[in-house]
Amino acid sequence: MPYAGDPYPSSHPGHLATVATLSGLSPTPVERCRVLELGCARGGNLIPMAVGLPGSRFFGIDSSPGQVAAARSVIDDLGLENIAVEVRSILDVDPEFGTFDYIICHGTYSWVADDVRDKILEICARNLAP
Ligand SMILES: C[S@@+](CC[C@H](N)C(=O)[O-])C[C@H]1O[C@@H](n2cnc3c(N)ncnc32)[C@H](O)[C@@H]1O
Repeated sequence: MPYAGDPYPSSHPGHLATVATLSGLSPTPVERCRVLELGCARGGNLIPMAVGLPGSRFFGIDSSPGQVAAARSVIDDLGLENIAVEVRSILDVDPEFGTFDYIICHGTYSWVADDVRDKILEICARNLAP
């Protein structure tokens, strides 16, 4: 079933960068960062970020072709060039996938099998830029 995706402010890079800064880290400025969302559904969370941060790059994956098609339709309608979404399983993400400054996974960890949960944590360990 299609998932009614919404924007989640707590997953926005601006929020994550603020928390990181308060924790003593030096996060990549959100105005020019790379963001990966695992389980992006139809882009309800990621697309607004891409609109608000035109100097940053956003990449979303979801295993549902229908939801990815719906996301692409909105991206095309808005003419956004800083975001891409792809039909891909979280299980198929490997180190060659590249690194990202922020990795988001909202509303997915609790809903997937143990092997996918382990993979989500592995991706955060291997695909998160220093
Ligand atoms: C409950 S929805 C959450 C969607 C969105 N992140 C949100 O919070 O609104 C979970 C999403 O994870 C996707 N998903 C489940 N297992 C997956 C997998 N192995 N690889 C990629 N996406 C997966 C589903 O298709 C669905 O869109």
